[in-house]
Amino acid sequence: MQPQITVLDAGGQYCHLIARKVRDLGVYAEVRPSDTPAGELAGRKGIIISGGPSSVYEAGSPQMDPAVFAAGAGVLGICYGQQLMAYLMGGHVRKGDKGEYGLAKLRITADVPLFRGIEGEQQIWMSHRDVVGEVPPGFAVTGSTSTCEIAAMADPSRKLFAVQFHPEVVHTPSGLDILRNFLFDVCACERDWNAAGQIESLEQHIRDVAAGRNVFFFVSGGVDSTVAYTLCLRALGPERVYGAYVDSGLMREGETEFVRGLFERLGATHFRVEDARREFLSALEGVCEPEKKRHIIGEQFVQVQERVLQGGRFLDGQWILGQGTIYPDTIESGGTARADLIKTHHNRVAGIQRLIESGRIIEPLTQFYKDEVRRIGRELGLPEEMLARHPFPGPGLAIRCLCSDEAATVERIADGWILPVHSVGVQGDSRSYRPVLAVDGFPEHPEYVAELVNRISVINRVVARVASRVALDDVSVRPAALNEQRLARLRRVDAIVRKATHDSGFDRRIWQMPVVLIPAGTSEHPDSVVLRPIDSVDGMTAQAVVMPSDLLKQLSDDLLAVDGVCAVLYDVTNKPPGTIEWE
Ligand code: XMP
Repeated sequence: MQPQITVLDAGGQYCHLIARKVRDLGVYAEVRPSDTPAGELAGRKGIIISGGPSSVYEAGSPQMDPAVFAAGAGVLGICYGQQLMAYLMGGHVRKGDKGEYGLAKLRITADVPLFRGIEGEQQIWMSHRDVVGEVPPGFAVTGSTSTCEIAAMADPSRKLFAVQFHPEVVHTPSGLDILRNFLFDVCACERDWNAAGQIESLEQHIRDVAAGRNVFFFVSGGVDSTVAYTLCLRALGPERVYGAYVDSGLMREGETEFVRGLFERLGATHFRVEDARREFLSALEGVCEPEKKRHIIGEQFVQVQERVLQGGRFLDGQWILGQGTIYPDTIESGGTARADLIKTHHNRVAGIQRLIESGRIIEPLTQFYKDEVRRIGRELGLPEEMLARHPFPGPGLAIRCLCSDEAATVERIADGWILPVHSVGVQGDSRSYRPVLAVDGFPEHPEYVAELVNRISVINRVVARVASRVALDDVSVRPAALNEQRLARLRRVDAIVRKATHDSGFDRRIWQMPVVLIPAGTSEHPDSVVLRPIDSVDGMTAQAVVMPSDLLKQLSDDLLAVDGVCAVLYDVTNKPPGTIEWE
């Protein structure tokens, strides 16, 4: 399908969000690298240049082909996109006096199609340091804020528009109207996109690619692989589709039963659970370091998958491999910092690699975003409890059960207690691995957490103590391994949290909620539980979310009643500087 809109990715975390919003408005959009030659974009009705972390004058900053501006399509520059447009068209960009991050008020100062129907002062979301100091010849300033004089600019005669703020985020309430104006008024796009309306043609596509062969899936119980599997099941019938689920023993309570029941209800006749619990656990014995855990788990998956492929003769010419790959997974410049790592896991499986290389693979969802996959799943009649599932990492509870080689004591400092438990963080492009600061009770302002992490250089994360059997001064870390006893404890507390957040509806207000077991406690109750509910768009950045106090009270009572649990802690760190997972 030929996209009407291309989003040029200038390295911003928001480029996929822009494309998703465009699709939500009914117009098919794709994401391409910012320097895609204009010739490859022929036929597009509109181009959107995304935001990005760079400065246009920096060496190696994302660039674009200036011929895009003269190709006749409408162009909308957002944030860095506005600066790039100004820079390339003969305007001037300069360092702002200070950055502007957060909410601002926009005054619209010119009547342009982009702002049609939008009246009065508008709340907008800003996140930038550089500013356009001078608009290019032919452009006019179309909006300002108190700190940013050129918050929007345009040359409507050439269909060139730009905004310094982010219309794609929810904090800009008129943002969707601005995008709608761009699509339909400026670019004259037609409505051509509805993910859920494509099931028939997806099924036909599957039949064409399969061409008489059967399809084999490794399923995870997650949304993507289940939807892809279901499409194949409908397209080819249950005799021609095989699913295998690897039980690593690192899954949540009841997970294997859930997946088995789900596939039974889907009408899968060839579905099998490969029990690899013992292998995974013994390979992980004595390992504390997070990336090492990931590596070992990746290797184990490879071995088990090879065994299943060989044993089932799925490598012969009668079979092709099905996968639930979705659109962001296919984009080189996007994805999370972990995308590479997650990818290498899949690619390292030699058997799978051979199937991919010989083109024996079917991935029916590569055009779609997660929300669209959910919509397709809903249309297919998949149960809501499956579609609404939060993301769950491949390495499972192994990276939520923290271990320690040695004993260590808690250190009291003026701001709180430094827990000698290391967690991963992300600052700029680099990862950190540092102890955690515990404070008593919730910080009043989220900025205070950021301030603590900036000021106390030995930490990268802050937790609030919610409840504990002893004072934090009496807590210490002792050697702890990834063993069946601690995994069972984590599974139990995770299940308690899952049930309570589900019953209260809190799980629908958040994007994900890792529950982490850390080896900090007393000799009788050696572990503590960390609650980490976050909100996010795509996992690349995240905000800590505070849950209602009655739910928190109930949870802390229930968790402290679990044998071996010393304290309940609440992670109040955003990403950055903390990652979503602790490892
Ligand atoms: P972080 O911890 O990097 O997590 O902020 C971002 C998102 O990625 C998930 N995650 C993983 N998913 N394999 C996966 O399949 C992994 O090794 C992995 N590590 C983190 C995490 O749950 C969050 O949604």
